[in-house]
Amino acid sequence: MSDVFQAVKVTDNVYWVGAIDWAVRDFHGYSTGRGTTYNAYLILADKVTLVDTVKAPFKDELLARIASVVEPGKIDYIISNHAEMDHSGCLPEVIKTVRPEKVFASAMGAKALGEHFHMNEPVTPVKDGENLSLGNLNVTFVETRMCHWPDSMVTYLHEDELLFSQDAFGMHLASSERFADEIDEAVLETEAAKYYANILLPLSSFVAKTLDKAGGLGVPFSIIAPDHGPIWRKEPEKIIESYARWAVQKRTNKAVVVYDTMWGSTAMMARAIGEGLVAGGAVVKLMPMGSAHRSDVATEMLDAGALLVGSPTMNNALFPTMADVLTYLKGLRPKGLIGTAFGSFGWSGEAVKHILVYLKDMEVELVGEPVKAKYVPDAAAMLSCRRLGEELAERIRKACDG
Ligand code: FEO
Repeated sequence: MSDVFQAVKVTDNVYWVGAIDWAVRDFHGYSTGRGTTYNAYLILADKVTLVDTVKAPFKDELLARIASVVEPGKIDYIISNHAEMDHSGCLPEVIKTVRPEKVFASAMGAKALGEHFHMNEPVTPVKDGENLSLGNLNVTFVETRMCHWPDSMVTYLHEDELLFSQDAFGMHLASSERFADEIDEAVLETEAAKYYANILLPLSSFVAKTLDKAGGLGVPFSIIAPDHGPIWRKEPEKIIESYARWAVQKRTNKAVVVYDTMWGSTAMMARAIGEGLVAGGAVVKLMPMGSAHRSDVATEMLDAGALLVGSPTMNNALFPTMADVLTYLKGLRPKGLIGTAFGSFGWSGEAVKHILVYLKDMEVELVGEPVKAKYVPDAAAMLSCRRLGEELAERIRKACDG
């Protein structure tokens, strides 16, 4: 297999030995339209070291890529930066195959690996800031709790100024290219933003702390090698700057109108609101949940200033797709939004009330009077929707100007 699956050289000391998942389209609720990669890295030091593994079904691909550089049994150390199973899924099998001298993880990582795999092989916990000699090369471990899980840490290879950053600075993007500078910048921007919005947004305060901590290390970062997507070997500061911008959730003059419709009435209202928003000078995204995916809504919310939510009432409740997207957005905890609710109904009309509960839970500042329309909105209701859009547009413009 090693003559089929080859490692890719990153530096004289480091090889990419991960797996490309061209097929995955759902990553725990996140729509991965471009697939993903599970990156693992081999450090060819005196102590041959594997950094992370891959999702369980890709174990043979990992071992084959390793074997294209070095016989897997020669691996001395395995470092597990993150216990989530897209990086640790085949760790027990790899340990059985490789029989490494030691496996390292953060203290919480060692515990999490034990709780996942109930394996007998010991994992050596390392401390935040701990150094490890690989013989001729040296690494330092830095805990990055909650980026992405409590166990998360990153590993810095001093001699190559290379940061193995696990989930941070990654993206779900399957590609034949291994380096970001080989890929269209627009694709990188879109997928990196989508990854941040769907994975790291609720952990933004931890991201900000991690960025401060990384800055405080006083070491240069020439290469950032994440566990998903391409490696940043040119201008890695660009992705760090993007993270700094996303972590503060800076709002723009963009309004996202998220809705679904039963017989077209709530869609009519959404379009009228959209017209009002445009007339008021906002950038507008209408996202009908019959065709939009929740993770694309989350991506649009990364820099939006307003969230407007519409739902018909169905069985006294929200339309199911709206309950789905609101539950998802609430979990991502976007900050600093204004918003409102609207929707059509036949007789009881509770959907707007349910939406407002979600918006209040998300600490969205409510603006304007929510619009409800019975059965099919008449001209007056459509005008009310347009006026509501205009009012929201004025408020986000003022917020952005302020
Ligand atoms: Fe890519 Fe949190 O795992």
